[in-house]
Amino acid sequence: MNNKFLNFFSILALSLAFVSCKNTNANKVEEDKDVVATQVKGLKDYYEGYFPIGVAVYPRAVQDSVTSKLIKTEFNSMTPENVMKMGPIHPEEDTYNWEEADLIANFARENGLKLRGHALIWHRQAGEWIFKNKDGSQVSKEVLFERMKKHITDVVTRYKDVIYAWDVVNEAVSDEENEFLRSSPWYEIAGEEYILKAFEYAREADPNVQLFYNDYSAIRPGKRDKIIKLVKMVQDAGIPIDGVGIQGHFSIYEPTEPELREALDKYGELGVDVQITELDVSVYHKEHSAREPRPEDENDAFTPEQEQKQIEQYEMLFKVFREYSETLSSVTFWNISDRYSWLDNFPVRGRKNYPLLFDEELKPKKAYKKVIDFEE
Ligand code: GLA
Repeated sequence: MNNKFLNFFSILALSLAFVSCKNTNANKVEEDKDVVATQVKGLKDYYEGYFPIGVAVYPRAVQDSVTSKLIKTEFNSMTPENVMKMGPIHPEEDTYNWEEADLIANFARENGLKLRGHALIWHRQAGEWIFKNKDGSQVSKEVLFERMKKHITDVVTRYKDVIYAWDVVNEAVSDEENEFLRSSPWYEIAGEEYILKAFEYAREADPNVQLFYNDYSAIRPGKRDKIIKLVKMVQDAGIPIDGVGIQGHFSIYEPTEPELREALDKYGELGVDVQITELDVSVYHKEHSAREPRPEDENDAFTPEQEQKQIEQYEMLFKVFREYSETLSSVTFWNISDRYSWLDNFPVRGRKNYPLLFDEELKPKKAYKKVIDFEE
C-alpha cells in the first residue's frame, strides 16, 4: 500500500475512533446521570447497619414508574398489603389468584428487595369457603386442618425462593380484658390448636422461612402479655416460631417512650426476632372499630399541631428503634405515602389521615428529616 492510501486509512480510522469516543462519552454522561439518580440516599441507606426498612405495597405501586422508583430508592423490603391474604389469593377452594401477588414477588426478585409474606391465617379477609361444608354447615376440625394445610403449603411453596418471613397467624389474641384468644371461626372450630397447626404446616412447607406471629396494640401492656403468652404456648408445644410482629399502627398520642421500651425489652426476652411490621402514625386517637363516616362539614386538614406532634413521635420511635437494633430485625411502613393510607377510611370513612413519612406529593415530610437525623 502506498503512503497516500495509508494516510487516508489512518485519517478515516482516527475520525471513526473520535466519533465513537464522542458517542461513548455522551452515553457515559447519560449513564452517570442515571447513576446519580439511583444513588440518591433513601431510608434504607441511612438505616444500613440497623435494620431493613420495608413498605406495604399494592400491585400498581410496583408498576407505576414514580412509585416504583420511590420504593427502590427508599426501601429494601416489601410486604404485599392485601394480595397474599387468604380471601384475595384463594377465594374458592379450587381457585387461586396468583397474578397480583406474582407482580409484587417478581418486582422483589428483579430488584433484590426482601419480601415478607402477609398473612396466612387471619380471622378477617379469609375465604368463607374454608369454614363451610357444601350444605352450609360448619366443617369439622379435621376438614379445617386439611384445607388449612393445603392453603399454607400452596402459597408458601410458590414464593419459597423470594419470601424470607411469613406472618403465619395474624391477630389471634383478644382485645377483651378477660379473654386470651379472640373468638373467630378458626377458634370456634379448632380451639387454640389452629395456631399450632398453622405454624407446623408453614414449617413443613418451607424449612428455612421465618415464621411470625403478628398483632396490633402490641405495646399496650394487657395485649402485650397475651401475645407473649401465645408465643410461649407455641414454643412449649415444641412448634417452631421465629418472631413476633408488632404491627405498629401507632398515633401521635401513643405509645409513650417508656411503654415502647418496656415492650421491646419483654419481647426481646422471648429469644425470637422482633419486627415492626405495619408502621404508621395516625394524627388522631387510636380506635379499633369502624364508626360512622365523617360529616362533610368536619375539618380533616393536617394541622400544624398534629404535624409537630407527629414529628416528635417519629423522632422518638426511630431513636428507640435504633437503640434496639439488636432486638429488631426490620421496620416496615404500612403504605408508601399520605396519598393513600388505609387510615383514610378507618375507623372513620372519608376522614383524611396523614400517617406516613411522604406527603401527598410523595415528598419527604419534616418527620422524615428527623428520622434520618441521628444527632441527639
Ligand atoms: C391489619 C392487617 C393488615 C391490614 C391492616 C389495615 O393490621 O394485619 O393486613 O389489613 O389491618 O390495612
